[in-house]
Amino acid sequence: MNKLLDVNNVSISFIQYTKGLKQQNLKVITDLTLDIEEGEILAVLGSSGSGKSLLAHAILGILPDNADLNGEIKYNGNVLNQKAKEEIRGKEISLIPQSVNFLDPLMKIADQVIGECETEEECREKQIKQRKIFEKYGLSEDVDNMYPFQLSGGMARRVLISTALLSNPKLIIADEPTPGLDQKSVKETLNYLKQMADDNVGVLLITHDIYAALEVANRICIFYSGFVIEIVDTKDFKEGKNLLHPYTQALYEALPKNGFKLTKGHQPLHGEIPNGCPYYDRCDSPLEYCNEKRPNLINNIRCFKYNQEE
Ligand SMILES: Nc1ncnc2c1ncn2[C@@H]1O[C@H](COP(=O)(O)OP(=O)(O)OP(=O)(O)O)[C@@H](O)[C@H]1O
Ligand code: SF4
Ligand SMILES: [Mg+2]
Repeated sequence: MNKLLDVNNVSISFIQYTKGLKQQNLKVITDLTLDIEEGEILAVLGSSGSGKSLLAHAILGILPDNADLNGEIKYNGNVLNQKAKEEIRGKEISLIPQSVNFLDPLMKIADQVIGECETEEECREKQIKQRKIFEKYGLSEDVDNMYPFQLSGGMARRVLISTALLSNPKLIIADEPTPGLDQKSVKETLNYLKQMADDNVGVLLITHDIYAALEVANRICIFYSGFVIEIVDTKDFKEGKNLLHPYTQALYEALPKNGFKLTKGHQPLHGEIPNGCPYYDRCDSPLEYCNEKRPNLINNIRCFKYNQEE
């Protein structure tokens, strides 16, 4: 299998001005490392505000101006600088955005899905392809001439998916594709992601919905306060096997089949994260130096208990 995306030690921070115009560096993502192969669905599972959309935007080169990005992002073995990201964005790498607000409220659906064309021929080809994809996703010809406000939530989602697929991407980043949808539309959307992976497309599924991740992902990358704390095989998670990090175990214990067991404390917000292990405040059996030193992600786990060389 060919590795499509390689994210190595990526950190994202923001300069913020506090009282008295003091500068403060707010780190939102720290040392993030993950990879995706062709035909694989990797879910990044994290709570709201943990930095998931920023990860998507970092890969696509659409971070806000005040964001500071460090680390390395490779696509097909080549390092992506800002120029390269702009060149492949919307072509080889496509985004299914988190919000249907990405649709222009004043433009007819087909016009905005097709976008700008350099020649009439290009426009005609795109129109044919757009219709084909819309048909595949159950969007009738009437939809072409509709405005976004005329679409149901499920239809708008399908339009966003179709837009992402128009360029035959090799990698799709689906940012929270299911919230706000009814059960049927959720199932349908997840099936579309599966179909994409069956067509050998790599899918980065960004979600806070553990059920969505368990339903379709091959592997789950567990995000905690902007840190990847463990990457597990979905099969192992379903069986409760080989789950090493206490937070991963806590997520498993909180599943309905395990009686919704809750863990003390809450995930620290950016700016409140302990100096040592980000999970220190909630860990039942920390080591004596866990409060002072930061564990690295080694062999897919970020915990000193499994990384003795630290
Ligand atoms: N332009 C910005 N300036 C300063 N801080 C920002 C900016 N954009 C995002 N942040 C910070 O980064 C955090 C993570 O944002 P992000 O949108 O990636 O979260 P998320 O995990 O996608 O959340 P959600 O599940 O709600 O979509 C935010 O909580 C906010 O603190
Ligand atoms: S590094 Fe230490 S505090 Fe963090 S999860 Fe492992 S044992 Fe607990
Ligand atoms: Mg988000």
